[in-house]
Amino acid sequence: MDDKSVEKRLQLVKEKLQTEIFSVERLIYLKSIDSTNAELKRRIVEGAVSGTVVWAEEQTAGRGRLDRKWSSAAEKGIACSVLLECSDIQNAFQYSFVTAVAVAEGIAKTTGLAPQLKWPNDVLLAKKKVCGILLELTGQYLIIGFGLNVNQKQEDFPEDLKEKAVSLALLMDCDLAREEILAEILNSLERNHLLMQQRGFKAIAEKWTQLCAIIGADVIVSGAGQTVLEGTVLGLREDGALLLQTEKGAEAIISGDVSLRGKNTNYI
Ligand code: BTN
Repeated sequence: MDDKSVEKRLQLVKEKLQTEIFSVERLIYLKSIDSTNAELKRRIVEGAVSGTVVWAEEQTAGRGRLDRKWSSAAEKGIACSVLLECSDIQNAFQYSFVTAVAVAEGIAKTTGLAPQLKWPNDVLLAKKKVCGILLELTGQYLIIGFGLNVNQKQEDFPEDLKEKAVSLALLMDCDLAREEILAEILNSLERNHLLMQQRGFKAIAEKWTQLCAIIGADVIVSGAGQTVLEGTVLGLREDGALLLQTEKGAEAIISGDVSLRGKNTNYI
């Protein structure tokens, strides 16, 4: 644990932020909270505006996709949620890709590492998960939550995740300044949000595809623990669905978990 004050932490983020939407005036820093997504939901009721960011040192009830838990060790990772007013609720899930690209760019800029992406919204390094993203819609508001493993050591991960998760520090062999990484991710999130607004999902899909780890791979897609489909990844459909070449022809997947099939691979 380090002893940086709240003001010091916010100052460090502010020094690197080049944003207008996710501005430091709308950045809320909390020592401990159940879940940053849940906190933003509560703050919407109290009048939080688009661009509000909640960053917490510790989550006591962090949530993942498909009703899973998300473990957030205190002062090790980044647990953050941002609020955006959403003009196209039907396609709000496309912000999974916007966020994954932003996180990958933020990591690359601050560490020189080269993250890869796995559909729909995992960020991988060394074939393990380094960041998870959870989108939630409340009325016309989209809550984008991301949890990034930064300074965790192997022993900080729960037993069942030790083989599947990685942190930036484990790969860099040193602890990293989380404030700088958070600021660069927010900078990139704003840039990619504006790109999405101005040029549409196609521009994001192109970036996402460049970073995708599974194009051409043989995969299994499961939902609720059951295999639903096997095939070879062709790419993204224009709306963000995953296109698979299966025995029956090309099929599109709109939800589920993707893992690599066969071979000696250990992608999660
Ligand atoms: C997943 O991979 O299943 C998504 C994990 C998302 C975790 C983040 S941490 C910040 C935000 N608050 C939460 O409760 N969850 C998201």
